[in-house]
Amino acid sequence: MNPALTQFGAQMSHLTGVRAIMKDIIETLRAGSGQEFINLSAGNPVILPEVEQLWRDCTAELLASPEYGEVVCRYGSSQGYQPFINAVLADFNQRYGLNLTDRNILITPGSQSIYFYAANAFGGYTTSKQLKKIVLPLSPDYTGYGGVSLIPEAVVACKPTLDIDAAAHRFKYRPDFSQLSIDQTTGCVIFSRPCNPTGNVLTDDEVKKIADLAAAFDVPVLVDSAYGPPFPSLNFTEMTPIFGGNIVHCMSLSKAGLPGERIGIAIGDEKIIQLLECFQTNMCIHSPRYGQAIATRAIASGALADISINVIRPYYQSKFAIVESTLEQAMPKDLPWFLHRGEGAIFAWLWLKDLPMTDWELYQELKKVGVIVVPGSSFFPGLREDWQHKHECLRISLTATNDEIETAMKRLAQMVEKVYQSVDS
Ligand SMILES: Cc1ncc(COP(=O)(O)O)c(C=O)c1O
Repeated sequence: MNPALTQFGAQMSHLTGVRAIMKDIIETLRAGSGQEFINLSAGNPVILPEVEQLWRDCTAELLASPEYGEVVCRYGSSQGYQPFINAVLADFNQRYGLNLTDRNILITPGSQSIYFYAANAFGGYTTSKQLKKIVLPLSPDYTGYGGVSLIPEAVVACKPTLDIDAAAHRFKYRPDFSQLSIDQTTGCVIFSRPCNPTGNVLTDDEVKKIADLAAAFDVPVLVDSAYGPPFPSLNFTEMTPIFGGNIVHCMSLSKAGLPGERIGIAIGDEKIIQLLECFQTNMCIHSPRYGQAIATRAIASGALADISINVIRPYYQSKFAIVESTLEQAMPKDLPWFLHRGEGAIFAWLWLKDLPMTDWELYQELKKVGVIVVPGSSFFPGLREDWQHKHECLRISLTATNDEIETAMKRLAQMVEKVYQSVDS
């Protein structure tokens, strides 16, 4: 069968960004032909034994309780499972000194769905045919934002400024407020903090400045905290979650060990939350309740926040340290390589200035020496202008073993040296 597709059908049947590359990676791994690969492309979190045990224990508790039937054998409210909502509210009100009520919270099947609802509720064409944009204020950012809108031209990203420490071979992206335009044509603003793919953490001041610019036009700002505190707390630098006004604080339990259960949490103004809830009711009625029921226990006991700080964060932080120290030892000092400051998330981001080939070509070369990383150009959704930098970066996942990361970084350094030499000779 070959049914005709609508505009939306055509748009949604394309894989965007990193998903398209994952297909190539899966095929490479499958074809294998005897070659062993170190796969540093994964976005799937590592199954840490302590984290798995926590979810196992919570499941055993749920199974043994009379609540079980109520959880899995019944529909519930679109907003979310009430004991879970209560646990999150109690935790956040106490932890951050807030006065949130259950009108301020929505539970979704994964946090990706929050961005889908918001991108299409606030972005796209209005009834008067005006295009409302979904603004990504700091590019590169999460590749998934490239696919959240039914109107692809609505997603627009802003080129950053680069804070470069040449001697240390480090850099950091900063929002370019002289270029960032938020006005009556903006539908909503989205950014990840900590950022996938770069590990960047926007400062509290930068977040407040973006939120203020947007507040002047009544524009919601979705702060994607999939890696933020208090769970999974994958921030390696101090950061304060910011609430109130036009900010929708969006969380995910995926990096806290429950990616399969699909739990997203949006906290914000009650009007925005209500609207997102209606979107959800129309789309899928509600988020599954089993994951919410076990997460209720882990949050209410404080175990999830504890394990985040004591197990999850140190695990990935120590992997980043291995990337850092291996590159420092193995990379030629005279080449313009720059590692993004490791401020959080589960990736390292490497910029190879004036790289004599594209990131895609380098990805292919690295495959030949058994290393798989993700070419960086997949992480600039909405940034349409030509910019050499888009083709000079790689995302390196921190989900491999210490030895694998060390070996892969050494091979990468050798390959990079060879590639730059090829233009000198
Ligand atoms: C920055 C960011 N936001 C959102 C998501 C989607 O997460 P979820 O599993 O909650 O839908 C991811 C997943 O990798 C992510 O990296």
